[in-house]
Amino acid sequence: MANQLFVKKPLSLLLEEMAGEHRLRRVLGPIQLSSLGIGAIIGTGIFVLTGVAAHDRTGPALMLSFVIAGIACIFAALCYAEFASMAPVAGSAYTYAYATLGELFAWIIGWDLVLEYCVGSSTVAHGWSHYFQDFIGIFGLHLPRAISNAPFDFNPETGRFFGTGSILDLPAVIITIIVCVILIKGIKESASFNAGMVMLKVLIVLFVLAVGAFYVNPANWHPFAPYGYTGISFFGKTIAGQKGAGGEPLGALAGAAIIFFAYIGFDSVSTHAEEARRPQRDVPIGIISSLIICTILYIAVAAVLTGMVPYNKIDINAPVSNAFQLVGLRWAQLLISLGAVAGMTSVLLVMMLSQPRVLLAMARDGLIPKSFFGAIHEKYRTPWKSTILTACFVAIFAAFVPLRMLAELVNIGTLLAFVIVCAAVLIMRRTNPDAVRPFRAPFVPLVPILGMCTCLLLMFSLPVGNWYRLFGWLAIGLCIYFFYGKKRSVMSKYTAHEIMKHGVSPAGSLATDISGPEEAGDK
Ligand code: ALA
Repeated sequence: MANQLFVKKPLSLLLEEMAGEHRLRRVLGPIQLSSLGIGAIIGTGIFVLTGVAAHDRTGPALMLSFVIAGIACIFAALCYAEFASMAPVAGSAYTYAYATLGELFAWIIGWDLVLEYCVGSSTVAHGWSHYFQDFIGIFGLHLPRAISNAPFDFNPETGRFFGTGSILDLPAVIITIIVCVILIKGIKESASFNAGMVMLKVLIVLFVLAVGAFYVNPANWHPFAPYGYTGISFFGKTIAGQKGAGGEPLGALAGAAIIFFAYIGFDSVSTHAEEARRPQRDVPIGIISSLIICTILYIAVAAVLTGMVPYNKIDINAPVSNAFQLVGLRWAQLLISLGAVAGMTSVLLVMMLSQPRVLLAMARDGLIPKSFFGAIHEKYRTPWKSTILTACFVAIFAAFVPLRMLAELVNIGTLLAFVIVCAAVLIMRRTNPDAVRPFRAPFVPLVPILGMCTCLLLMFSLPVGNWYRLFGWLAIGLCIYFFYGKKRSVMSKYTAHEIMKHGVSPAGSLATDISGPEEAGDK
């Protein structure tokens, strides 16, 4: 039935499922929620990708890139906040899409979130490895080349891929395994542990600003935008700005598309809605204030970094600590490497924790095998099978694929998810105007439309290869959906009559009372 593709999960059913689950205590206030957001946000983006972006795409205009990416995220964040306050349930954007756009879009976004969390984790593991190697290098220790990096990388000057002389990035694999073991044994997602990590990361960033400011040479900020201010291409055809040797767009906008990675994670605040004391007020505050704080810190770090080192001399592996080495502050380099390693570990924990939760939500809906993705460890009470599978993917990508390729792929996938969430807010306002919205995104339809436009713009500022990789990824996902998920979907078990009766119509009206056939998807 074609209509099944667009069948929507009623909001009332989502709330009912949530009520049936183990309820979490409502203990988080706006400060803790903002701190959780910052904990998930600050990591590889600021500590590693700033180097790639400034060196290859923006020069000092990296500061502007952070402003552009931050604005795109604020629009998307307002839309996330509206959904998070309406349906504070696990599954994040996947669940929002199921309630508004229907099963097919929900599947697409769920599959897309695998890119955000799994490939995102690989990117962070890679970044972790760079700083770990930088750290041990201070003591004169160096890993054998064969186990220090991905086997190939892209050279923007020649526009070609080249062999790095390595076989795999072993530290990235090892940190992935360690995090996997911790997650299976179960970490108490304690706000105090997180607060400690956030404090450490923010202190390191403030330290970079306070000490680095003394070594800024304003001459390094000229020229400000050596690659221009734009950088947009439409499937390989340059629309605005310069292009690099490999045809990739260059300029501040193109840089924004890369360092967008630095902002990923704010959406994780919405997954804590159930624990918020006043979700309708505090979740939006948490999402938006963590974004604003990080945007300010990021712009300031970009200013200091590009002021300390000429943009074309910035290190692309461990740019922040390397800048301090170049000015002769080895003790500062040590402190920054250590802080970056700890900070990235906490991001990795959050990302690898989020992936099994989204898979669990999809398994409950019958779209993927519940016996595997819903399996909970008898002793540790954690989703151990999907955590191990996630770790295998993360480790393989981190071992063999270069960091910049991973980051770009994550960005295009996450930007697509943001576009869908913004669209979903627009649709939901039209199809369910009376649903309770404790938090309403302001200036609708302007904010969601601007959110979609800015995210699409950033997608078109990424090298075209990412579009093809995204299409390939989605094609694999659609095959799985049509050959597996569609037939086993819990929603497909409802008869047309039940759908009519309960109002789960493809047109999207909300049911007031519906209870699904238990475990229908658990085949
Ligand atoms: N925003 C996170 C980071 O930069 C994903 O590591």
